[in-house]
Amino acid sequence: MAGLGTRFLPATKAMAKEMLPVVDKPLIQYAIDEARAAGIEQFCMITGRGKTALVEHFDVAYELEAVLRERNKFAEIVALRDAQLPPGAMVAVRQQEPLGLGHAIWCARAFIGEDPFAILLPDDLIMADVPCTQQLADVYRETGGNVVAVVEVPREHTSRYGILDIGADDGRLVEVRGLVEKPKPEEAPSTLSIIGRYVLLPDVMEHLSNMDRGAGNEVQLTDGMAKMIGNTPFHGLRYEGRRFDCGDKIGFLEAQIAFALRRPEMASAVQAFLKNYREAD
Ligand code: G1P
Repeated sequence: MAGLGTRFLPATKAMAKEMLPVVDKPLIQYAIDEARAAGIEQFCMITGRGKTALVEHFDVAYELEAVLRERNKFAEIVALRDAQLPPGAMVAVRQQEPLGLGHAIWCARAFIGEDPFAILLPDDLIMADVPCTQQLADVYRETGGNVVAVVEVPREHTSRYGILDIGADDGRLVEVRGLVEKPKPEEAPSTLSIIGRYVLLPDVMEHLSNMDRGAGNEVQLTDGMAKMIGNTPFHGLRYEGRRFDCGDKIGFLEAQIAFALRRPEMASAVQAFLKNYREAD
């Protein structure tokens, strides 16, 4: 997305925010890995000025690999290859101006064509046993239509998210009756918010093409999605897992700790230093 990443300046002055690493992997790679784990094989990266590294990251790195081979650094070669996509698996489109998430998605319309597709916003990093995109794809197979991942947020935070107006609710799947982007707490129809994972029908492109401006004077994906309600099934899934808002400094720091604690080679060292900080309080 062509968001400017202003919350992480100066770190993001010369570098895309999606290249910020959590432990040792950039946010964008977590998103691509999650999509691949759900069986997705074709990717469209929506980039913009200063974001070419996002595409390069998934390319072959001949020179680096040759040097690593000479030095017998085999584990590092595996790490490099993990970040490499098969030939032809990724295309990129440029969002020329930061006009909003809806506009960014619309920029990929030729890639999407007539097929349902998944959207992953790399700022939302999700730790889950079954990858969140897989959970959405499973629901899509059951229900068809549109499916978005949702989570409860405190009412005072509704103005940060897309919020659902809810119909039938079985505790896991909720019927979406309406969608509002970033409502004030007193106007929010619920406290169930959309997180950055969607499985959508291609029809959304038509609604986005009007370029209607919404919250923040931006073209909002939420508004485009809202226009599909009623014509086709639309569900929110209370996914199983933990979301880290890596567009926020505290969320990003928490993700570092949580993901490091999941790494067998690092967990005890991280536990030990955390204990020191607690004792220093
Ligand atoms: C975007 C969407 C919003 C959604 C959020 C999830 O907002 O517009 O509906 O709840 O992502 O992270 P943004 O974070 O770009 O402001």
